[in-house]
Amino acid sequence: MNLVLLNLKVSFLNLYDYLRTIIHFYPNLNFAKADIALLSLYFFDNPFSISKRFHRLREDPEIYVYGETPIMTLNKIAKEAQIKDSDTVYELGAGRGRAAFWFNRVLGCNTVAIEEIPDFVSRGDQVIRKQNIQNLKFIHDDFIDADLSKGNVFYLYGIFLDDVAITKLANKLKDGDTVISVSYPLSDYSDKFRLAKHFPAKFTWGWGDVYIQTKDKI
Ligand SMILES: C[S@@+](CC[C@H](N)C(=O)[O-])C[C@H]1O[C@@H](n2cnc3c(N)ncnc32)[C@H](O)[C@@H]1O
Repeated sequence: MNLVLLNLKVSFLNLYDYLRTIIHFYPNLNFAKADIALLSLYFFDNPFSISKRFHRLREDPEIYVYGETPIMTLNKIAKEAQIKDSDTVYELGAGRGRAAFWFNRVLGCNTVAIEEIPDFVSRGDQVIRKQNIQNLKFIHDDFIDADLSKGNVFYLYGIFLDDVAITKLANKLKDGDTVISVSYPLSDYSDKFRLAKHFPAKFTWGWGDVYIQTKDKI
């Protein structure tokens, strides 16, 4: 498929997900207000360009690495993982944070969005401040070095972690913590994780595999 067709397909799927998000989740006015405010901050400067600029400046070998979990897919993932309002969800690599706002505003979870691109963090903070949103914060950090001790559910999408990073992450988490990863199971790389569930979910680029694993005592 050539690039123009691929772009059209992705735009169509994003629009389709957005319309379904409006129908399913905009009746929750707290989420609707936050989502609209966040999206409007990216109207003239989309997150893909912001991410590309960041990686180009850092001279990373790969600069087209940004992507987002469609909200309807996030809903399916949250149901499968049985995320409850009493959970503290850490988004490891939150991007602009649409998912983090959804965890907080729709599910009522205490939510922490960790992100290395400062522009995403400052814009997310802006929405939190203007709407006086509680129990949601953005942290500008590398999540491998960040304090993760307060979380019990961790969402990881679109980031390849090498063995060293996975081991570091495994060592930081507590027994019983849940990690949701897309595309690959952490249990393949560290025997500290036990795979609890595995299912397909739809992303804009096609079907992805979602893995739910817990950190267990060994
Ligand atoms: C594919 S995006 C996913 C965004 C969001 N989690 C979602 O599902 O919609 C991955 C994000 O993780 C960020 N990221 C990658 N490695 C990171 C790290 N080590 N620490 C913090 N953020 C990271 C990237 O900047 C990017 O914004």
